[in-house]
Amino acid sequence: MLKQLDEIQEQALAALEAVPDLAELEAWRIKHQGKKSTLNQILRDVGKLPREERPAVGKRGNEVKVALEAAYEAKKQALERGELAELLEKDRIDVTLPGRPAPLGRIHISTKTLREIYAIFAQMGFQVYTARDVELDLYNFELLNMPPGHPARDMWDTFYTTREDVVLRTHTSPGQIHAMREYCPEPIRVILPGKCYRYEQVTARSEFMFYQVEGLAVGKRITMTDLKGVMAEFARQMFGADRRMRFRASYFPFTEPSVEVDMDCIICSGEGCRVCKYTGWLEIAGAGMVHPIVLQNGGYDPAVYSGFAFGMGPERIAMLKHDIDDIRYFFSNDLRFLGQF
Ligand code: DAH
Repeated sequence: MLKQLDEIQEQALAALEAVPDLAELEAWRIKHQGKKSTLNQILRDVGKLPREERPAVGKRGNEVKVALEAAYEAKKQALERGELAELLEKDRIDVTLPGRPAPLGRIHISTKTLREIYAIFAQMGFQVYTARDVELDLYNFELLNMPPGHPARDMWDTFYTTREDVVLRTHTSPGQIHAMREYCPEPIRVILPGKCYRYEQVTARSEFMFYQVEGLAVGKRITMTDLKGVMAEFARQMFGADRRMRFRASYFPFTEPSVEVDMDCIICSGEGCRVCKYTGWLEIAGAGMVHPIVLQNGGYDPAVYSGFAFGMGPERIAMLKHDIDDIRYFFSNDLRFLGQF
């Protein structure tokens, strides 16, 4: 019987050695320490043994029991530690990995270009003046020397509203009247940025909504030379120090004389290329000397005051500067485009 107890201990400890995980440990416990285990049966039946054998078997049996219990506890702790270590290893977070970059918003290319334009004109003393997007026909046309029925109104395809006298401004020029009426009789140097709307076919070159930056200077003894100097300074700061300028005679009802402002092509410097359509020149603004009637409508006496005005398209400027070949990219909200600037 004592020998059998030795064998039980030996076998149980050997089996315990081979237990790989907590699930099998439980099975081992039931088999070797459970109620139906051989060891417990022997201990239960000690009383049935001959009297002289009982003390030795009881003592040895308990020793085996205690030994198995101690071995079980030690194994259990070892396995638990092992499983924890494995879990830690498996779920390890590499804190040295770079994080995922949060997508950053960016300044829209139109806004960015507008800010560059503001900065250049600010150096020349021009303030930013903002006027409304929804205009009275009176400001958009009439006070700009285009009475009802004037054929020049056809230069702008207009969005009309249900109110006959209200339009979406087709250009920023009506802001000239607002600025003059606000500042008269003070001299004025303002730029008027803002969105304009035209009932036009959308193409690579024209959108139904776009920005303009209007410029207006009114004072005593302002001449066309001032206009040319301001335009040249703008072009040189925006596109490079050796830009050349050219004025081409044109017509706008609100200026007299009127011109188109060209600069030599930034791609070919006048040689002729795809961008300038082989003319060597790029148009950057419409401009002119403020028409006496417009000065008058703004409150200034044209016998005393004179002024110049210009209007340019910042999207067109951005397109030239960044070699963008389609104006529709600006407002179609494609992040692949917008993210480039
Ligand atoms: N308002 C004109 C347009 O939208 C642009 C323009 C031309 C503005 C000449 C001016 C100017 O101030 O003097 O086509």
